[in-house]
Amino acid sequence: MDRPRILSTHPLFDGPRKLLNDNFDVEYWSGARPIPRGELLARVRDKQGLICLLSEKVDEDLLAHAPRLKLAATVSVGFDHMDLAACTRHRVAATNTPGVLDETTADFAWALIFAVARRLPEGIELARSGAWEGWELGQLCGADVWGKTLGIVGLGRIGRAVARRAAGFRMKILYSDRARAGAETERELGAEYANLERMLGEADFVTLHVPLLPETRHLISGAQLARMKPTAFLINTSRGPVLDEEALVRALEAREIAGAALDVYENEPGIHPGLLGRKNAVLTPHIASASLETRTRMARIAAENAVALFSGRRPPNVLNPEIL
Ligand code: GLV
Repeated sequence: MDRPRILSTHPLFDGPRKLLNDNFDVEYWSGARPIPRGELLARVRDKQGLICLLSEKVDEDLLAHAPRLKLAATVSVGFDHMDLAACTRHRVAATNTPGVLDETTADFAWALIFAVARRLPEGIELARSGAWEGWELGQLCGADVWGKTLGIVGLGRIGRAVARRAAGFRMKILYSDRARAGAETERELGAEYANLERMLGEADFVTLHVPLLPETRHLISGAQLARMKPTAFLINTSRGPVLDEEALVRALEAREIAGAALDVYENEPGIHPGLLGRKNAVLTPHIASASLETRTRMARIAAENAVALFSGRRPPNVLNPEIL
């Protein structure tokens, strides 16, 4: 019997690649740059499965180009680039990779907290420039992290992993969320529930960990930034549109907040020009989950979802189970 044909828009890593190759006829995109949309539409046409990345929209247009498609497996936990209703209409199972990237993403949120508070990029730049003239009392003084108040917006898996790490820095933790966590969780994390307004007014570091949903788009905009302390920092490793970038630029310019550290942007790969040259904006290119171990685990999960679906089993991470 013919093996299902899969398009993977990335060469993936050895283990997941072997799993796919053992089970399917796989065509890999291995260009140095992400697959152009035209190539994607042309190559997916005769495929039953698609392994894709979050930079590739799985929408009505793509699905209409892929009449044989049964699976779209994204190698990411976020799935705001996938139109689930359209997948369901086309009877395509959509899957993602939850669970395996929480700790790695939390590590990175902390890396950003320290980078922006302790002015790491500026320090690195000065040391590398050869222009450093020696120890100086007032040089590159940043802000302490330890002992401060951490505000976590969204106490899901990643938010909790961020909270667990705060104990070592003897921080007070406030969190806001749609629903309050159980008393046990609050006790374990030493986290106190606060509504968003209160938290924004009290936190020294506000870190975003909500998914992108209609109700979280621009959750942090001008009014919210204005509530923050002028000494506070904003960290975003969730999704770009959760934060109104234009409003952030205005708040940084007006010194309404002390700084921001961002890994995600409203119009990736574009970054608001008002952020690019700012010393108090630490910018990274959407790499919070990018450890080799975690990215390999994510690719493996996508491959496992494909194996499950095409062997007649329920994909463990199906997002639209109603089609099964
Ligand atoms: C990364 O942003 C992901 O959604 O996996």
